[in-house]
Amino acid sequence: MPKIKIVPAILSAPEEKLKKFFEDIEGKADMLQVDVMDNRFVPNITPQAELLKRISTNIPLDIHLMVQEPSKEYIVGFISANPNLKINNITVHIEACKDINRQIGFIKSMNIKAGIAINPKTGLETIKKILDKADMVLCMTVEPGFSGQKFIMGVMPKIKELRKLKPELDIEVDGGINHETAKIAADAGANVFVANSYIFNAGDRATAIKRLRQAASEK
Ligand code: DX5
Repeated sequence: MPKIKIVPAILSAPEEKLKKFFEDIEGKADMLQVDVMDNRFVPNITPQAELLKRISTNIPLDIHLMVQEPSKEYIVGFISANPNLKINNITVHIEACKDINRQIGFIKSMNIKAGIAINPKTGLETIKKILDKADMVLCMTVEPGFSGQKFIMGVMPKIKELRKLKPELDIEVDGGINHETAKIAADAGANVFVANSYIFNAGDRATAIKRLRQAASEK
């Protein structure tokens, strides 16, 4: 089983709130997820690559593109937005790309890991052929678009099947993650846990991260 990683997420926030957030999670989170929404693939919009200019952290970024057919130029916009940041991976949705090989191939050609995200109702068969090319698979545990939604338990069998197929793959879950659902997802086989509300809204963010890590490590 690959290493457990705890990944706070941001969609957007005013400058002062972001600054405090980065201070709180520095040295504690394994990655920072930037959620990008285009108002086409999902019914919500976020500040796009511009948000990266307002990020100051040593934590590697996990960029989650909830975006219809992201072009090379669009992806480059994120890679070049802020040279002080380290981008670990860029993740694109199987439902949003006509031929996801193009996006995956391009992201990898830029020496960045490529993730494939799948929505709760999307079956594993849609990604089986390209699984070997993915550095990570993000199994959404809510319908993408908004933070603060309820974790969908019905995604767990898909995670179990994926873990059986790929014992060493980074399997990420995102949506409704808290210390209870993180344990449920970990039992199914997930090892990368993204949380927005649970960490961002916590009084003590370091403790929230610690609780998630403990819950995900319990067996
Ligand atoms: C997608 C969501 C998630 C977010 C989860 O719709 O925007 O990407 O990271 O937020 P929480 O943790 O609040 O469910």
